[in-house]
Amino acid sequence: MSTKQTIAVIGASGSMGAAISKSLSKGNNRLLLFGSEKEGVDAIVNDIRSANAAADVEALECAANASWEADIIILAVPYEAEKEIAEKIREVANQKIVISIANPLNETYDGLVTAPDTSAAEELQKLLPNSKVIKAFNTTFAADFATPVIDGKRVDAFVAGNDDEGVDIVSELVKTAGFNPIAAGKLSVSRTLENMQLLLIRLGMKYNYNWLAGWKILSN
Ligand SMILES: NC(=O)c1ccc[n+]([C@@H]2O[C@H](COP(=O)([O-])OP(=O)(O)OC[C@H]3O[C@@H](n4cnc5c(N)ncnc54)[C@H](OP(=O)(O)O)[C@@H]3O)[C@@H](O)[C@H]2O)c1
Repeated sequence: MSTKQTIAVIGASGSMGAAISKSLSKGNNRLLLFGSEKEGVDAIVNDIRSANAAADVEALECAANASWEADIIILAVPYEAEKEIAEKIREVANQKIVISIANPLNETYDGLVTAPDTSAAEELQKLLPNSKVIKAFNTTFAADFATPVIDGKRVDAFVAGNDDEGVDIVSELVKTAGFNPIAAGKLSVSRTLENMQLLLIRLGMKYNYNWLAGWKILSN
C-alpha cells in the first residue's frame, strides 16, 4: 500500500471541498478539513465517518495549522479568496504541493477575470513561490464526484504543473477520486484548462447538462 498522505482541504464545506473530501477519504489519506464555518465542516466530517467508519478525517479550526500538518494542500475556495489564504499559509506551504482547482469566472459566467497570458493557477504560484502549485479538478463539476462515469465513460481530469513528481502524485489522487487522470503539461496549460471549464459551463447552461458533465478524449 502507498504511504499515507496528509491532505488539507481549505474550503471543505463548499460544493467542491465536500465532494473532493468525500472522494479522497476512500483512499489511504489523512484528511484535515478547514472552512470558514466550523459547523459546515463538522457536518462533512460526520458524513464521511458515517459512510466509512475507518476514514481518517478531522476538522481543524485554522487553515495554517491544517496546512502545516499536511503534505498536500487543496484550495477549494473561490479564486477571489486565494490571495488572503495564500498569505496565511505561505510559510507552512513551503515546498509542498498546493492544488489549484479554481476557475476564475466573472460575475456573469461568460468570461474569466484573469488576463489571457496567465491563469488562476499561475497567479497562485506567484503568491506561493516556494510551493509546487498543481492544477487539477478544475474541469470536473462537483456533482461528477458522485458519478465519475458518465454515459459509460470515465470522465477525464487534467493535471498540470511544473513539478513532474507533483503531477504524478496528484494524478494518483485524481484516480482515487474515480476520474481518469491526464497529465496535460506545465502549469501554463492551466490557461487552457480554465477556459475549457468556462466553455463547459456555458454549454451546460445552453444544453441543460444539470451540472453533471465532463471532458473525455476518445482514442483507439
Ligand atoms: N462547483 C463546481 O462544480 C466547480 C468545479 C470546478 C472547480 N470549481 C472551483 O472550486 C472552487 C470552489 O467552488 P465551489 O463551487 O465549491 O464554491 P462554494 O460551494 O461557494 O464553496 C466555497 C468554499 O470556500 C469557502 N471560503 C470562501 N472564502 C473563504 C476564505 N476567505 N477562507 C476560507 N474559506 C473560504 C466557503 O466558505 P463559506 O461559505 O463559509 O464562506 C465555502 O466553503 C472555486 O474556485 C471554483 O472555481 C468549482
